[in-house]
Amino acid sequence: MIEFRKVLDILRSNNLLIKISEEISVEYEISAVVSRLEKRAAVLFDKIKDFQDFKVVAGVYADRKRIALALGIPEKLLLSKIIGGLEKRLKPVIIGDAEDFLNIFQTKSSIDVKKIPIPKFYPKDKGPYITAGIVVAKDPETGIRNLSYHRMTPISKDEFVVRVVERDLWTYIRKAEKAEENLEAAVIIGVDPGTAIAAATTVSIDVDELEVASGIYGKPIELLRGSSIDVEYPLAEIVMEGEFIAGERSLEGPFVDISGTYDKIREQPVFKVKKILTRDKPILHAILPAGLEHRTLMGMPREVNILRITKSIAIVKDVALVNWGCGWLECVIAIEKRHEDEPINVGLAAITAHPSIKKVVIVDDDIDIRNCEEVYWAVITRAHPKRDVLVVPRAKGSTLDQSGVPRAKIIIDATKKEPKELFERAEIPISENVKRILERLKVDY
Ligand SMILES: Cc1cc2nc3c(=O)[nH]c(=O)nc-3n(C[C@H](O)[C@H](O)[C@H](O)COP(=O)(O)O)c2cc1C
Repeated sequence: MIEFRKVLDILRSNNLLIKISEEISVEYEISAVVSRLEKRAAVLFDKIKDFQDFKVVAGVYADRKRIALALGIPEKLLLSKIIGGLEKRLKPVIIGDAEDFLNIFQTKSSIDVKKIPIPKFYPKDKGPYITAGIVVAKDPETGIRNLSYHRMTPISKDEFVVRVVERDLWTYIRKAEKAEENLEAAVIIGVDPGTAIAAATTVSIDVDELEVASGIYGKPIELLRGSSIDVEYPLAEIVMEGEFIAGERSLEGPFVDISGTYDKIREQPVFKVKKILTRDKPILHAILPAGLEHRTLMGMPREVNILRITKSIAIVKDVALVNWGCGWLECVIAIEKRHEDEPINVGLAAITAHPSIKKVVIVDDDIDIRNCEEVYWAVITRAHPKRDVLVVPRAKGSTLDQSGVPRAKIIIDATKKEPKELFERAEIPISENVKRILERLKVDY
């Protein structure tokens, strides 16, 4: 297990952490800087206006390189490491009480969540909100633990309204409500990479996601016993212990989601904070909504699902939920085609593996699937508009796709057709002499 501060040290020693020493406001200034820098590096804000006790960091897990460095593995092994975590799960160990490792920041009588530097990201957002908060909760019937990210905005000194899509946490809340009970939970912010990834995976409801986090490391993750709740959690920079109040709902939104557009207003569950614990000089992890880190953390674990399922029917070389498709709605898959119609089967498998996909493009493995120009070159030269484009007129889709209901899908077969030589990309050979010239001019070749 590699704690969050150690990850920041690793990024710093790889020149992937930019420190901002100037005083910065939580209102739009953090988001304005991060949106311009996170592609280059993570950004650490040292001096937060009106919040002397805290630092803020963003972009920590914004790309595969940073996540692989944090885990101490080669980048190309990342997806297989996550698959390993899902397949070879391990029981975590409890190493002590939260209070032995964390300071008490606020208790019941003193709670005021506005003392935490929660950024306001976009002008039409309902308010400031926590974006890297992972909810750790237990299934009220089975005790199995779930981890999931949920944006949360303060609605009073000790309450947040929380966006909970109809997945595992939503099921836990409903189960507790049926028994007329509140659901205890911890919100952990600023965590190790295994937990950060496990929290974004969707596995069967009978799988404990802390065991997935352990599986990613290949050894048990260490947990702390909650101080005011019967839920254990990994070490984090900031922990808010509390409970979802049975039956209570409040209006949530609008907030910018992964698509870069404002999401709808909905009635959502309310989380009441009982106790806040922090590390010394806590560092709040803030994920810029619709930024690179949001898209990488949310999309990459879904690539794992798509890869596992499509691989069971075809020779799949690589899968990407591409950034130009918001890291969520468009998928590009490279295959080694064995039958002319196989790309369509791969597309259908992909939209089943990740129902939020709106468009899937299947290419040969001579195409760099993360390069928009190459993918669209393949579409325009290799796909026939009538024969190679399949519209699925009705299927479950993403709540973030506002283009209309029922939600529909497009599958594009942009693989080479026969005769293949008509679809080959012409390449110009590069001699050693030309390589030297290009290197001197710092031109990629
Ligand atoms: C940065 C980030 C923010 C997210 N925000 C939310 C959110 O506000 N609400 C939500 O329900 N899911 C959100 N998600 C998605 C879930 O955390 C993720 O899909 C998770 O796999 C769901 O867990 P579950 O399938 O175990 O229930 C977010 C994911 C990331 C990476």
